[in-house]
Amino acid sequence: MTEQETKKIDSLREFIHRKNEDTHSDSWLIAVLHKAQELYGYLPRDVMDVISGEMNIPTAHTWGVATFYHYFHLHPPGRHTISVCLGTACYVKGAEQILDTLREHLGIDIGGVTQDGMFSLQGARCLGACGLAPVVMIDDKIHGDLTPERMVRIIEEYRSRDKSRRRRARA
Ligand code: FES
Repeated sequence: MTEQETKKIDSLREFIHRKNEDTHSDSWLIAVLHKAQELYGYLPRDVMDVISGEMNIPTAHTWGVATFYHYFHLHPPGRHTISVCLGTACYVKGAEQILDTLREHLGIDIGGVTQDGMFSLQGARCLGACGLAPVVMIDDKIHGDLTPERMVRIIEEYRSRDKSRRRRARA
């Protein structure tokens, strides 16, 4: 285990035992899972085992809670996170079509990660750019006035930019 990994696990253990909480309550388990996701970016299997051990609860229960809530991620996030706004203004202007385009083009659904690890897809409430609806945020950049064709073009731009960046890194 690297020093950084040891630090993360220690800070998670400290969080679990910091309060005098009822470690069997699901609300405390959810808080701990949030903390773990904040530290790791997702919930690795071995970290969930540590949580179960420290909290003295069956692993199956921890898994059950982690898979029940859509905001917990069980796989490492993609290099780029796509958040599709599903707020009212975007919905009225065709967010569903944009989401269908992404599902089809990337071959994943909300909560998924593309096979090449490049994109994660997630839904979002209002992204605060209703005037540009329908809107998608990729990492921290807003893309508005989208059509299915424009959405595909943007995704392909990310792909080719990443490809040339990796080629440059190898050279
Ligand atoms: S509803 Fe989509 S940005 Fe506001």
